[in-house]
Parts: sequence; C-alpha cells; structure tokens
Amino acid sequence: MSQSAPSRVAIVTGAARGIGEATARKLAADGLAVAVVDLDEGACASAVTAIHDAGGTALAVGADVSDAAQVTAAVERVVVELGAPTVLVNNAGVLRDNLLFKMTEDDWETVMAVHLRGAFLFSRAVQKHMVDAGWGRIVSLSSTSALGNRGQANYAAAKAGIQGFTKTLAIELGRFGITANAVAPGFIVTDMTAATAARVGMEFADFEKAAVSQIPVGRAGRPAPRASRPATCRGGACLRGPEWSRSARGSSPGCVRRRCRPPCRAATRRRGSGGRAGRGRRRTRWDRRSR
Ligand SMILES: NC(=O)c1ccc[n+]([C@@H]2O[C@H](COP(=O)([O-])OP(=O)(O)OC[C@H]3O[C@@H](n4cnc5c(N)ncnc54)[C@H](O)[C@@H]3O)[C@@H](O)[C@H]2O)c1
Repeated sequence: MSQSAPSRVAIVTGAARGIGEATARKLAADGLAVAVVDLDEGACASAVTAIHDAGGTALAVGADVSDAAQVTAAVERVVVELGAPTVLVNNAGVLRDNLLFKMTEDDWETVMAVHLRGAFLFSRAVQKHMVDAGWGRIVSLSSTSALGNRGQANYAAAKAGIQGFTKTLAIELGRFGITANAVAPGFIVTDMTAATAARVGMEFADFEKAAVSQIPVGRAGRPAPRASRPATCRGGACLRGPEWSRSARGSSPGCVRRRCRPPCRAATRRRGSGGRAGRGRRRTRWDRRSR
C-alpha cells in the first residue's frame, strides 16, 4: 500500500480483470483506497500491483460474491485493512449462455447468484458503513442485454433485475446521502466477450465486427477508467451503451446525464452556470423540464 492516507475506501467486485480492473485502477488514481475483490485472491495480484506502481492503495481480497459468509468476511477485512468502505462497484459477472430449451437450472442459478445475489449481498454488507458515514456510492453493472438478447434469458433477466434493485436502493438509501446507479454497457472487449465468441465458434475479430455493425457509433468499447461519473448522478439512473462506449474510448462523453430523467444535478448546474452545454445551444424539452 502507498504511504498517503486516501480519504475514501472503495470495493470493486470482479476486479481481477476487464471492466472491474479498469474501474479499480481509475478509483485508485482518483485517490481512493481500493479493495480488488475476485474469486481467487492470487488473480487480483496484477491489478493490485498496477495500482501500487501508480502510487495508489489497493488490497487483494478473494471472495465469491454469491456466498454470504465470504462476503461478510471480505467486507470485515476491508474495514480492518483499509477502512470503512463508502464506494461499492458491483461488477462481478459470469455468462452461461444458451437457448432456452438447452439452458440448465445450473446455467440459470449460477448467473442469478453471481449478478443478482452478489450485488444484493455486497450492497447489504456495505450499506451500514455508508449510512454511518452519511455518504455512499453504489454502482452496479447492468447491460444492454437487460432488454433481451438471444441465448441470454438468464443474463438478460439478471441484468434487468439489477436495474430494479438499483432503483430500490436509490429510493431506500437516498435519505442517508447514498446514491445507487446502474451502468449498462454495450459491447466491451474483455475476456467475457472473447468467451462468447469462442462459444459461438467465431474468430474474435469477426465477432467484434458483427457486434460493431449494430452499434450506432460504429465502435466497440474497451475497459477504461470510468467509475466516478455515474456516481455523481442523483441516484436510480441507468446509463446505457453509447455513453459507456464514448467514455471508454477516452473522449469526453459530453453530458451523458442529459439522458437521466430527471437530469442529474451536474447537468443542471452546468446549464445554469452558462457553461458550454448552456451557451449557444437550443434549449431542449429536458432543459425546460429541469427548471
Ligand atoms: N464485456 C461486455 O461487453 C459487458 C457488457 C455489459 C455488461 N458487462 C458486465 O460488466 C461486468 C464485467 O464484465 P467483464 O466483461 O469485465 O467480464 P470478465 O469476465 O472479464 O470479468 C468478470 C470478473 O468477475 C469475476 N467473477 C466471476 N464470478 C465471480 C464470483 N462469484 N465472485 C467474485 N468474482 C467473480 C471473474 O473472475 C472476473 O474477474 C459484468 O457484470 C458483465 O456482465 C460486460
């Protein structure tokens, strides 16, 4: 761990690789101490080393997010070794894709357990620290597949469930200064999408090309620092694919919050202060509604 004392502690699940690792690195770069949680503690080593090398603070924690005892132990360890967590990113995920007639009960239950039960267990374990602090941010990974995707009845149901779960957390916890938001990426190049390409018997390049042909901006996303932006929203919002893709590329996403209903505070502030978004642009019906 680094010598400086970061002011906030974050937990990122499924952070040994992919989107979770990028999120952990971004939070650490922003000055938070980060618990890198994944199934195998050893697998977290490269993410933790990268954070340490960049001068940040990180702790590798092995835990299965779907196991209540392991989640409790993980959070207790984080409290002791880093401090009370007030930022949680529910990112851990698995795929067990299959057409409905071939999908087994195990395919269904595994996906529900990791995505939904995992987000529930971690959020429940961490919320008391956020309530004590009077401040907290919970960000959970949904997916554009929440609206339905062939071969993903289990995954689509779980990711849609994440959105209902998130809205409910926002309603219950907002009064304690805690926001809950979901991010719903489209196609992001990670081991998860590589595994899907392998499952359907396609070369990854061809698979990515086919996916990109369905994406309006014409490019796939790549894991990149991201977590702080949705955490600034008022709560209960869900940012979908194109916004993630734009920021994953490293360019400014402009005001992704214009899509929040109602628009989040940051968007309203920017318009009100006569910033770029408020000058020289025709007011939209969302501007009018937000006043
Ligand atoms: N890659 C995409 O295109 C995409 C799109 C939309 C949403 N998502 C979501 O983003 C999240 C991250 O996806 P990714 O592409 O980085 O996936 P990934 O497969 O690269 O990483 C997922 C991580 O979760 C960990 N994990 C799995 N089961 C776990 C468990 N029971 N306990 C703890 N950790 C566990 C894995 O070990 C792995 O490190 C997932 O929730 C996924 O559903 C991904």
